[in-house]
Amino acid sequence: MDGNGRWAKRRFMPRIMGHQRGVESLRVTVKACRDLGVEYLTVFAFSSENWRRPADEVSFLMSLFMKMLEREVASIHGNNIRLKIIGDRSHFDDNLQRAISDAETLTANNTGLMLTIAANYGGRWDVMHAVHAMLRDHPELAASFTEADLQPYLSMGDAPEPDLFIRTGGEKRISNFMLWQLAYTELYFTDTLWPAFGRRALELAIASYQHRERRFGRTSDQLAGTVKERYA
Ligand code: IPE
Ligand code: MG
Repeated sequence: MDGNGRWAKRRFMPRIMGHQRGVESLRVTVKACRDLGVEYLTVFAFSSENWRRPADEVSFLMSLFMKMLEREVASIHGNNIRLKIIGDRSHFDDNLQRAISDAETLTANNTGLMLTIAANYGGRWDVMHAVHAMLRDHPELAASFTEADLQPYLSMGDAPEPDLFIRTGGEKRISNFMLWQLAYTELYFTDTLWPAFGRRALELAIASYQHRERRFGRTSDQLAGTVKERYA
């Protein structure tokens, strides 16, 4: 979700207004995902590198996160959405940590959209954290372990790998988001700034995805073969 600051600046407004508008974009995007039948939506809200921003912007983002949880949790729950936060939450203040775990507990048994918010998250952190946690549980794996051993310890260990990655705001980088999980994900970059992102922009991204051929290392002909077999 990139481009909040630039969106605000272009309108001669303070950056924080862009963040505020960004919450609205998230609300619209969640609704659109539910309507379109998307099962998993994972958004990058705050990276482990974002602490380097000016202190007042960081504290605004933290209070916005808190307010979002307070205001939206009832409707998230009412819409059967399961909410999960990934990232190192130990750096958040106690109130925020409590609000996060309350929201997760409340929505844990919901069966609709799985909405994951990455906050103080980094892809390398995720992998390192998983390795440490796995070895704590299974010291015998230190000598040798497989991807399947590690999988359940990753933040998104219980989710399928993402089909589509969308980065708004014109930058063409992954910026340490879900490095492990994105191995075969289709990447989509748009100049649209996050506060201007909405249903239409999401539909364009999905339409682009629908024109891609996902080979997972195979050849086009092999894929055509499997399709033929399937419909033979
Ligand atoms: C994304 O918008 C929101 C966060 C990283 C919290 P930015 O704040 O990065 O906006 P730009 O990139 O400065 O426009
Ligand atoms: Mg940015």
